[in-house]
Amino acid sequence: MAILKIARMGHPVLRQVASPIEDPGAPEVRRLVADMLETMQDAQGAGLAAPQVYVPKRLVIFSVSGERAERAADEAADGAESEEVEDEVPLTVLINPVIEPLTEDMSVALEACLSVPDLAGQVPRYTAVRYRGLGLDGQEIVREAAGFHARVVQHECDHLDGVLYPQRMRDLATLMFTSELHVQVRDEAAE
Ligand code: NI
Repeated sequence: MAILKIARMGHPVLRQVASPIEDPGAPEVRRLVADMLETMQDAQGAGLAAPQVYVPKRLVIFSVSGERAERAADEAADGAESEEVEDEVPLTVLINPVIEPLTEDMSVALEACLSVPDLAGQVPRYTAVRYRGLGLDGQEIVREAAGFHARVVQHECDHLDGVLYPQRMRDLATLMFTSELHVQVRDEAAE
């Protein structure tokens, strides 16, 4: 296994539409997933898409611990969403994923991306989606997701279509350095 270099915003690999994986069981796919897992864990990301490690293929991985899901609920932009119970997301490998929104409702919350280091911004996402794709074993995965889980999947799958979260933002005034974000949260807490 190896920790891979992560492509940063501006590199063409992040702008292209990734191609489907023909053989999910191929040894090189297995190797890529193992390296992506190690890379994601090292970078403490919630997800990673293959184009982020310079491989323009339709493959994403994601995983959200209970603690992180809780933090996501607390950080949600609108107070209403913090009432939602956020579930842990099991470590998931999704090959050739397809997302279908289950609602027209969108919520706006803070996102960051390993390919856009040190920044975060408020991004609208569908609040509930169904996603399907193949696992490493070639078995089909079909799941319904809401809240932070749905957000992570939409963020990762956008990478497969060459889209980074700033392109989804409605208000670029909310794009900020994460170091400033902590200051802002402290200020809000103090009010
Ligand atoms: Ni990302």
